[in-house]
Amino acid sequence: MPPMPLDTHRLVDLLGPLAGRFDVDCLASIDSTNSELLRRAAAPAGSVLVAERQTAGRGRRGRPWLAQPGDALTFSLLWRFADPQILSGLSLAVGVAIARALEKLGVSSARLKWPNDILLADGKLAGVLIELQADGRGMRAVIGIGINRRLPPAEALPPGLVAASLADVLPELPTQELLLATLLIALTEVLDPFAREGFAAFQDEWQIRHAWNKRPVRVLFDDGRSLAGTCLGVAADGALLLEGAHGIERLLSGDLSLRPA
Ligand code: BTN
Repeated sequence: MPPMPLDTHRLVDLLGPLAGRFDVDCLASIDSTNSELLRRAAAPAGSVLVAERQTAGRGRRGRPWLAQPGDALTFSLLWRFADPQILSGLSLAVGVAIARALEKLGVSSARLKWPNDILLADGKLAGVLIELQADGRGMRAVIGIGINRRLPPAEALPPGLVAASLADVLPELPTQELLLATLLIALTEVLDPFAREGFAAFQDEWQIRHAWNKRPVRVLFDDGRSLAGTCLGVAADGALLLEGAHGIERLLSGDLSLRPA
């Protein structure tokens, strides 16, 4: 079934008093909503680009983000930060916003995986790709979010990907408008305090929702090295805390996977 285009009037109703903070543009098809928002250098804070189809959706570390039209909500939000120093932990704070929004929609079991995944059990429900651009007035952050509404048949998923969708846990899927409005409201409620106080304001809440607390994990770095340890959660600046053979290490980048117990 082809996806219905997003009803922007309905979205404005659902956003209520916050509607004036967003400028929403819905596209039938684009390479990537993040790439397009990065190209729109004059776009103001609060610009939102939603795409029914992305032809080159991007994930972290150069990976593709794949979704069939209608089976995922894919959008990017532009936000401005005056102080670039505050930005570490932004993807974690965005994860907290997504988890809060999902709770409002009846999904209480979403958990967070460092640095940017939202999981249901051990399956990936949503991902966040944040890209930063400095200009004369501070930092523009393009916050790209993809959430699976339904999954394709298992054989169509990339090998090794454990995925999850809203349809796994909700008897009735929220409309795209309700899902997007709930997310944008939750994002505003997180990004405003984040701009003043940074991730420290959300550290405890992230920790409560931590998917892999005290579980054995391996971190893979860009240069091919890896580190095994027990995942302890996150520090106030968003660093991952890993207890390994040499004590507790603070890690700022890398790819996390579970080690078999
Ligand atoms: C990840 O899990 O690695 C991040 C996935 C982010 C996907 C979203 S979909 C909307 C936005 N546009 C993109 O090209 N990527 C992000």
